[in-house]
Amino acid sequence: MLKVKNLHSYYGKSHILQGIDLSINEGEIVSLLGRNGVGRSTFIKSIMGMVKSEGSVLLNNKEILGRPIHEIANLGIAYVSENRDIFPDLTVKENLELGKKENKYGIKWNLEELFDLFPNLKKRIDVPGGVLSGGEQQMLTICRSLMGCPKLIMIDEPTEGLSPQMVNNVEMLLKKISSKGVSILLVEQKLTIAFNLSNRLYVMGHGKVVYEGLPKQVKENKEIIKEWLEVS
Ligand SMILES: Nc1ncnc2c1ncn2[C@@H]1O[C@H](COP(=O)(O)OP(=O)(O)O)[C@@H](O)[C@H]1O
Ligand SMILES: [Mg+2]
Repeated sequence: MLKVKNLHSYYGKSHILQGIDLSINEGEIVSLLGRNGVGRSTFIKSIMGMVKSEGSVLLNNKEILGRPIHEIANLGIAYVSENRDIFPDLTVKENLELGKKENKYGIKWNLEELFDLFPNLKKRIDVPGGVLSGGEQQMLTICRSLMGCPKLIMIDEPTEGLSPQMVNNVEMLLKKISSKGVSILLVEQKLTIAFNLSNRLYVMGHGKVVYEGLPKQVKENKEIIKEWLEVS
């Protein structure tokens, strides 16, 4: 469904992404791994139309590179940033409603389905978003993005700073979302989660893809892990 070819991205004169090729199939979970600063967030933002880029980004064979952010969102791509930017004074329900989009193409979710995904959501539907724990806020931002009926969600480091229990909840949430046919591009620092969830993985180093493979292949490839993934 998404095919990225020779993507180059720039912040002013800094040439950050240097020819990325990456594809995501319908319903797949694909992880983008790499150390801090290699360009994973820049990649997501470039797909979303937020960073000056060259190359090609095809969504179901249609070129979307160069289109404005809201158009890309309405075509069915959602972006969950690492900032968990919920509105603390609005209720959980109001936060969810803000996620609605004009997108007519994607996979629809109703509140009941979201309650199934996120066990505490129903109980907390009328409390202000700011009252939720960090992990619950993360789950809320993911659920809010579902309100826009995306075909693809790109999620940037969803488990950072979360307790092990909350990490499990996020992992379950992503599995359930994927089982409904939504494709997921996951940027994740925790290798275990990426290995558990992903159909395929890409490893980035210095603005380029340095390895592409199945979770099992990356797991067994000590050199790749040592060279590009381990944080010492
Ligand atoms: N807004 C920006 N302006 C200039 N440089 C940036 C900006 N955002 C990120 N960078 C630089 O781009 C590189 C890639 O950053 P980023 O995509 O955030 O990496 P990652 O998400 O893999 O940690 C880094 O060298 C970072 O300093
Ligand atoms: Mg990042």
